[in-house]
Amino acid sequence: MISKLFFFLTNNILLNNIFIKLGIDSILTSRLGTYKRNKIDTNLSLQKMAGFSEKPTVQEAIDKIHVRLETLVEQNLNEGDRILDIECGAGAYLKRWEGKYDLTGIDINNDMVNLARKRMPTATIILDNFLNHDFNHKFKLIYSVSILEFMPPSRLMAFFRKVHLLLEPDGKLLIQYPHALNLKDTLYPDLYYVEYSPRKIEHKLRNNYKIITHEHCFDGRIIDLYDAKPYEPGNRTFENGYLLIAEPKVKPKY
Ligand SMILES: C[S@@+](CC[C@H](N)C(=O)[O-])C[C@H]1O[C@@H](n2cnc3c(N)ncnc32)[C@H](O)[C@@H]1O
Repeated sequence: MISKLFFFLTNNILLNNIFIKLGIDSILTSRLGTYKRNKIDTNLSLQKMAGFSEKPTVQEAIDKIHVRLETLVEQNLNEGDRILDIECGAGAYLKRWEGKYDLTGIDINNDMVNLARKRMPTATIILDNFLNHDFNHKFKLIYSVSILEFMPPSRLMAFFRKVHLLLEPDGKLLIQYPHALNLKDTLYPDLYYVEYSPRKIEHKLRNNYKIITHEHCFDGRIIDLYDAKPYEPGNRTFENGYLLIAEPKVKPKY
């Protein structure tokens, strides 16, 4: 009850924008974030554990990300290259490369990390917030599925700057994120789950990354400000996601 009231009082468009301007939205998002403290039922499927439905269309959307990642790896990496999965969960994506590449995953949830360590004994799995963690080497591929929604808007640039610093000069970045589905989303109404506008993401990236692909992850549509024709309007479903593939520019302008 108290947390519902807190949510209602704090998570509104006006206050959220004030929080963002003051750079204190991260306090709110981390307080509201469910993942850190969540106990995970490890008997569930990887999909369910990560909070996704098992509907065939969601499975299809996940499969498409696997294919994009696999293609990126085949085309750009050599055996032994380093791969970083930001918010790796239990390693749903990372595990496929065990033994062939040098794998690192990071996640803030203790249960997820323990399970990932069990499933991938040769990978380095870190329990920490990506934004706060000091890594001691660079990566050839950095990817993340479903993290931007937890990234406070005031930290978005910090996120992309950090990824830039961690990428090899010829490295690649892949990010799948739930995109804005209406005008309200573009105004940051929900700090609990931010649905960024593809236009905003491009704006944030353009000085420092060369964008290779930026399109609807499920059907390849190009959406600018928000998606006027989402799947299952009014619901959050994993088919509503955007996919970014980019590489770092040599001389970033931060
Ligand atoms: C929706 S799940 C996705 C997990 C995995 N990428 C997948 O698709 O199966 C989101 C994950 O992000 C983690 N997470 C959220 N914010 C994070 C942060 N700042 N640093 C590291 N992990 C984070 C959560 O603990 C959770 O495991």
